[in-house]
Amino acid sequence: MVDFGAQYAQLIARRVREAGVYSEIVSHEISASELASRQPKGLILSGGPKSVYAEFAPQLDPDVYGLGVPTLGICYGAQLLAHELGGSVKQTGRGEYGRTVLQICRATQSSATSSDAWGLLTNLPDTQDVWMSHFDAIATAPDGCNVTAVTADSPVAAFEDASRGIYGVQFHPEVAHTTHGQAIIERFVRGVCGTEGTWTPASIAEESVAAIAAQVGDGRAICGLSGGVDSSVAATLAHRALGERLTCVFVDTGLLRKGEAEQVIETFGRNMGAELVHVDASGKFFERLRGVSDPERKRSIIGELFIRTFEEAASEVGDAEFLVQGTLYPDVIESGTGHAAKIKSHHNVGGLPEDLEFELVEPLVRLFKDEVRQVGRSLGLPDEIVQRQPFPGPGLAVRVIGEVTPEAVALLQEADAIVREEIARADADVWQYFAVLPDVHTVGVMGDERTYAHLIVIRAVTSEDAMTADWARLPPEVLATMSSRIINEVPQVNRVAYDITSKPPGTIEWE
Ligand code: XMP
Repeated sequence: MVDFGAQYAQLIARRVREAGVYSEIVSHEISASELASRQPKGLILSGGPKSVYAEFAPQLDPDVYGLGVPTLGICYGAQLLAHELGGSVKQTGRGEYGRTVLQICRATQSSATSSDAWGLLTNLPDTQDVWMSHFDAIATAPDGCNVTAVTADSPVAAFEDASRGIYGVQFHPEVAHTTHGQAIIERFVRGVCGTEGTWTPASIAEESVAAIAAQVGDGRAICGLSGGVDSSVAATLAHRALGERLTCVFVDTGLLRKGEAEQVIETFGRNMGAELVHVDASGKFFERLRGVSDPERKRSIIGELFIRTFEEAASEVGDAEFLVQGTLYPDVIESGTGHAAKIKSHHNVGGLPEDLEFELVEPLVRLFKDEVRQVGRSLGLPDEIVQRQPFPGPGLAVRVIGEVTPEAVALLQEADAIVREEIARADADVWQYFAVLPDVHTVGVMGDERTYAHLIVIRAVTSEDAMTADWARLPPEVLATMSSRIINEVPQVNRVAYDITSKPPGTIEWE
């Protein structure tokens, strides 16, 4: 997948993988020789925000077109193929945005019977909904290509020359609103490119285990375990590969949710069977956080202390030379959006720095989050691990607003446990949900007595990826139960509020 700055770059790569085919995202600045050295079975040129005529419009090394690799251009990618290969692109003065009816041109479809001439749209209905998002339009298809579909405003909504393996679609097959989008992607990556579709969770797990075994040889490894899905799946793969030569380290900061430390240890013991070193460092964390209320200082104190604690525990493990980390593919993608080849810094397992003296083992580095979940399931990990909601590294310290004391954390843990229980009971479809303890007292009346006690705020959001989020429309009766339970069961709380802020302008966490 060659990225021209597409909004949907990762989505295209994931759709290809859903078709059982491994895909990588590369920058459009990649050279033809570098591309050829990766031996791609097919290329997808993504969409992008520019016009092909614009100054600095992203281009492809012209030699790529001569590699003879089947190529599918999507939106900008299709316009670029038209522009570069003898067709034309025009500004029509009006774009097409959103749902659009695509009309297949039956007479110009390639035959699907000959193995070297796969028509992309051959088996689709004559008309169907597709998702459009473009301003310029392709006026004439590249030399030698047939127009295979049109819309009311696009005289060339799709084109192909199956004999040369050149395909272009103006619409976005990767989005769910394009009714037959996944079928089109599958037809390209499986039919046109002739792949076998063996990229499955079970095969990924098997390959990862073999790769870890090859990398570590007869050495020893350690793995920082947080209880979250990434570190749990990475640890499970490493354990399969290394057995007793893996030691997991779980640092309890004292800032976890109610019962979480016990639960992580218990779940780990029941499901993983690897050796686990449990370090209770809560005393140290509370000591260092005394008197600190600035959120960024809290984060840096916690980050640093976490690393020191981990290092100490690791040194006691002895002669481990390898560190297993749950780094994911989105952390290392070389994006094509102007900063080609800039690889984002790794920031995983509580922000462990790379100057720890270990060689890194990163079994999840080719995977997206949803694939990690699938691999976890194929390894037999239970939903309580695989479906866990995200939890910030600094833990409840960023949900106790102001100074973090053991008493404040204990109070918040009780309120948070009620929020989690009630939302689980209601089976609400929520991305993340928790309680916040602001640094606020309010006046109330309980049993004829004036009270002056804490406020608890409930936060529950829906989201796809935590980049944007909306407050969850929880049923009023669920909110009512949470409110009365928190006030009745948690001492020193006399008021409960529900946060109705989306992201943006808010963030999911309060700090
Ligand atoms: P925000 O609050 O930025 O959160 O909307 C987005 C997602 O990231 C999580 N989060 C963190 N995770 N360390 C982490 O490991 C942090 O410092 C941190 N801050 C926020 C948050 O829970 C949400 O899922």
